[in-house]
Amino acid sequence: MKICATIPEARAACRDARANRKRLGLVPTMGALHEGHLSLVRAAKAQCDAVAVSIFVNPTQFGPTEDLSKYPRQFDHDCRLLEKEGVEILFAPPVEEIYPGGEVTWVLVEGLSEKLDGRSRPGHFRGVTTIVSKLFHILEPEAAFFGQKDAAQLAVIRRMVQDLNFPVEIVACPIVREPDGLAMSSRNAYLNREERGRALVLQRSLQHAQQEFQTGERIAVKLIYAAKEVFAREPKVALDYFEIVDPDTLDSVERISQKTLVAVAAYVGSTRLIDNIVLNP
Ligand code: PAF
Repeated sequence: MKICATIPEARAACRDARANRKRLGLVPTMGALHEGHLSLVRAAKAQCDAVAVSIFVNPTQFGPTEDLSKYPRQFDHDCRLLEKEGVEILFAPPVEEIYPGGEVTWVLVEGLSEKLDGRSRPGHFRGVTTIVSKLFHILEPEAAFFGQKDAAQLAVIRRMVQDLNFPVEIVACPIVREPDGLAMSSRNAYLNREERGRALVLQRSLQHAQQEFQTGERIAVKLIYAAKEVFAREPKVALDYFEIVDPDTLDSVERISQKTLVAVAAYVGSTRLIDNIVLNP
């Protein structure tokens, strides 16, 4: 695996990998890799001729009171995992390489960036779309792989790719869960034993909504009400949002008549976790 810390090195390595019409897949990450990330790498390996992974804890997508400084960093371990998966290129730049200072240009997907996580985390999606655009420009992948767990992020990135004509196919990969159902996340590492148990309420609330849906309920507010009752039984977890929305526009849906995203975010202690399911009538 070629490890690149600078933009010219990474650009050259990706251009080499793409020579002779080879399809390059990119898996953008912030490191602290787990099975969820590795499932993206495996999907990229299956669908592309060469795979590049980026590891960059992107400061512009963290709010001033968020967890940028304590975000888990385990570079050597991540490298070993990626080597094992047969990744060809790892782009792991220092912050100054990406943001040398004085930047005044941002990529913003208006509207969508203020919904779901964007409402609770102002500026978050502007940081995401800016770094993802930079990665697309630097590495020029034909396909990029993102987890369905970050469903709002996926919607925002898809819209950015459409509006700015990036020649990149966006591939969404299914949520990977722990054996007890908790969606895998690098932030799960913050949870102590009690919090780890309480965190299961996110999935329980989604399952409850899904059961109601399967028994015929189609009115979104009724499903939301049922899910909030599940949260009420776990008072130490603070619900941020439980929403039922169109997966592309992230607009609320009143009645479920087509593919619909059910998304939840909650604070377990100081750790903000998200999860979702897709309902298909
Ligand atoms: O999903 C993530 O890990 C990040 O938001 C991403 C896409 C790597 C951008 O920093």
